[in-house]
Amino acid sequence: MRCLPFSLLLFIAGPAPATGAPLSELAARGKAVMAAAQCNRCHAVTDLSGAAGLAPADRAMHCVDCHRWILGTKGDDKAIARQRLEFPDWDRYLENIEHFVRLPDLGTLTRRVDPRFVRRFLDAPVDLRPHLDESMIPLRLSAADKDAVVAYLVALGGEAVAGPAGDATAGPAPGSVAIEAGRALFVRRGCPTCHLVGNARLGGGFDLAFYRAMRAAIPVGDVAAPVISAPNLRFVRARMARAGLVRFIEDPAAVDPRTVMPKPSLEPGDAERIADFLLFAPIDFAGRTAPDPAPEVPMLQREVTYDEVFDEVLGRICVHCHMNPTSNNGDGGAGNTGGLGFAGLGLDLETYAGLKRGMVRDGKPQSVLAPARPGEAPLLLEVLLRRQREASRDRRLPFADAPAAGVGPDPAHPGMPMGLPPLDPARLALVKTWVAQGAPGPLSER
Ligand code: HEC
Ligand code: HEC
Ligand code: HEC
Ligand code: HEC
Repeated sequence: MRCLPFSLLLFIAGPAPATGAPLSELAARGKAVMAAAQCNRCHAVTDLSGAAGLAPADRAMHCVDCHRWILGTKGDDKAIARQRLEFPDWDRYLENIEHFVRLPDLGTLTRRVDPRFVRRFLDAPVDLRPHLDESMIPLRLSAADKDAVVAYLVALGGEAVAGPAGDATAGPAPGSVAIEAGRALFVRRGCPTCHLVGNARLGGGFDLAFYRAMRAAIPVGDVAAPVISAPNLRFVRARMARAGLVRFIEDPAAVDPRTVMPKPSLEPGDAERIADFLLFAPIDFAGRTAPDPAPEVPMLQREVTYDEVFDEVLGRICVHCHMNPTSNNGDGGAGNTGGLGFAGLGLDLETYAGLKRGMVRDGKPQSVLAPARPGEAPLLLEVLLRRQREASRDRRLPFADAPAAGVGPDPAHPGMPMGLPPLDPARLALVKTWVAQGAPGPLSER
């Protein structure tokens, strides 16, 4: 990485390459990797003009575009009536869709974020956005493929402001007047209404109760609330060089015209002080270094039916990637017929017959109702517990924030539901009890 003297830092983002500029061999490989892994079903992967890059996946495949299309009819009685003719369950869709409505834009990411951070993130994704329920999915890509992905993103977005992040090693000492001034400005300019900064206490009513109330106030599935996309600024010191940080705070759209952060109203010098705070304030607390212990899952003292498990877990969450291909034009979803960079395991969780049939790994049939490895829970429960462990590694609760440990989900054994928050203990208990009771079939034909 280049290291430029401070006087040479430009206060503008580097120009994006002209549309259609030939890609390096590495970047071209990155583009092919991203197309094959279907990153464009969740992320925007186009350059600033929108003309170059990976076109968004077709709406019939696009997790975000399809959900937004449906939610976009909210409040429009005429449109809803029209859709009901073709989709009788439209009202239920509107009720149920909550996730995958706004995800980070990758096409312009490197205009503000150090590519080295992006590269590390691909190895070990962490939850960057505390208010966003969804997580980046584990990737099954070689190191060379990940290098290529990053090269492609830089080709699309352009280089960030000159100088890599983490260069600002010398700065005001923790507790110094400069940092406290920055902290005060950060609060006074309204930044904490959208952003957390690790475990930094911001005073002025920005306590746990405030964040809980704020999170609860964001309408479910809201496609417009920018707060959903606001990163925890604890990562800024690894993501942004000082010059770029100051520039972004002053005028986000000047760095990334597609950003969803509104321009704050600041006085001259504010951004410099806030940058001091973000780059140098202590944000970690000494205590927590190990993941939380997995929660105890109780065994229920009653009969649990398949219908309950289907309504609460399988049909509600899992079917979206483990469909029955026969009723979905041959597409069984990422966990069945494959997608999102996974070959698929033939696991249909939309039907009881499919669940009983189980999956096929390395050509061998495998039950999901028995442990996959000695000492583990039955696989159907084990994958849910795995997701619990993954999520506890980087907690996002305000003031319970753990330093990113550099370990992400194990791509060879991903937790479920992939990319979504872990199941709550009540739903885990349903699955655990039902499997222990022999996984009895449906009460009615379904
Ligand atoms: C199923 C949806 C989904 C797919 C497919 C997906 N991602 Fe993501 N990705 C996410 C989510 C959700 C986040 C946001 C995580 C957060 O900020 O807490 C994310 C975040 C990211 C980030 C970090 C963005 C930032 O602000 O630094 C990168 C980089 C990224 N994804 C790369 C990829 C690449 C490369 C692919 C394809 C190989 C891909 N993603 C496929 C859901 C997805
Ligand atoms: C063609 C449109 C369409 C596409 C494409 C689509 N979904 Fe959905 N999704 C829906 C509908 C409709 C519902 C509501 C289903 C219901 O109420 O039964 C839904 C609901 C969900 C839910 C449960 C509700 C929630 O928000 O938590 C999840 C999870 C989900 N989808 C994930 C995905 C993922 C992951 C992808 C991409 C791999 C995807 N969807 C692609 C239409 C779509
Ligand atoms: C209305 C909500 C909102 C407010 C208020 C807000 N931001 Fe943001 N900010 C965002 C969003 C959303 C993003 C993510 C940008 C994107 O994805 O395009 C962001 C991104 C950032 C980033 C880049 C972080 C990264 O890791 O990529 C910085 C730095 C930042 N904001 C600083 C501030 C400061 C300083 C203030 C107060 C002066 C502030 N923001 C006020 C919503 C907000
Ligand atoms: C966003 C898509 C997605 C969602 C949602 C999802 N899965 Fe999966 N699932 C996958 C993919 C992809 C694989 C294949 C992983 C692999 O190849 O190891 C998989 C694999 C599995 C496996 C086999 C895991 C192993 O290690 O052998 C089980 C069991 C499973 N899923 C259960 C579930 C359950 C239960 C849910 C709902 C709580 C769920 N999945 C939700 C995508 C998903």
